Amino acid sequence: MGEKTYLRCVKGGVIMELFEAIVNRKTANSAFADKKVSQEHIDLLVKLASHSPSHFNSQPWRFIAVTDEEIIGKIAKIAGDSMVQLMDDGRFWKQYRKYFRFSEKEMEKTKDGIHIDHLPAVLKPFVRTIFSEKGGKVMAKFKVPRILGNDEEKLVASSPLLFIISLTKDEYKKDELSGFYSVISMGAVIQTLWLAATALGMGMQFISTPGEIPENWKAISNMLSVPDDFEMCAIFRMGYVDPSIKRPTIDWKSSQRKGIKELAYRDKWGTEL
Ligand SMILES: Cc1cc2nc3c(=O)[nH]c(=O)nc-3n(C[C@H](O)[C@H](O)[C@H](O)COP(=O)(O)O)c2cc1C
Repeated sequence: MGEKTYLRCVKGGVIMELFEAIVNRKTANSAFADKKVSQEHIDLLVKLASHSPSHFNSQPWRFIAVTDEEIIGKIAKIAGDSMVQLMDDGRFWKQYRKYFRFSEKEMEKTKDGIHIDHLPAVLKPFVRTIFSEKGGKVMAKFKVPRILGNDEEKLVASSPLLFIISLTKDEYKKDELSGFYSVISMGAVIQTLWLAATALGMGMQFISTPGEIPENWKAISNMLSVPDDFEMCAIFRMGYVDPSIKRPTIDWKSSQRKGIKELAYRDKWGTEL
């Protein structure tokens, strides 16, 4: 199961250095290359993901690799509609405004959040108004929710692979420690997958918006026949990266990171590392 590719990569020295994969891992915002993900690579991703840590080795996760174009198309439609819905009812801006940055300078200052650095020229002078809680009218005038919804639908629909992670409700129990631990374990799986994908020349992007509209999330979970004793927790679109593909109409980047001094202390909170 994927073993051949693994050995070939290692022996041939093809495998990306671990540190390089960690630093190069990025959210893939653009469309992927028009190329199916090989079965060998799908198997390899699952095999590597299975080596992630979990509390008491409970392995609370199960995966669905969706490659059926019709199912991907249906999920894409739900993802696009979810984006429009979230924006139209104002929730998107209320919840996420605090993460938006509009210049390198702002990004440098906070070293967090996402920099909306790519949008049509006509929108540029209005960017702060559009991406604000009060920008609803301007946003509607420029059809921003539609643009973002269409982009989202197209990006998902054109992805050769959707990767779904579900957690067993035996472990994923809200308000119990096992629930917290199973989410941590899922985080470990996600990072393993992401690093492995990076090493294989693939990209990954979370598809989170349907998760904010419970009936949309349920519709996807039902479509994929996720059983009642499992909770679908994460959806990713995946594919091979092609740097020559142009960016979506409205796009962001988020490569800044806080410095070590700000992130970590020695011995006790506040003492420089
Ligand atoms: C729980 C979680 C949910 C996320 N949801 C989305 C999403 O819906 N769409 C998206 O493009 N990125 C999503 N992201 C990716 C983050 O925006 C991204 O990791 C962050 O901006 C850092 O950028 P990088 O991944 O390129 O390093 C999510 C990340 C996490 C951990």
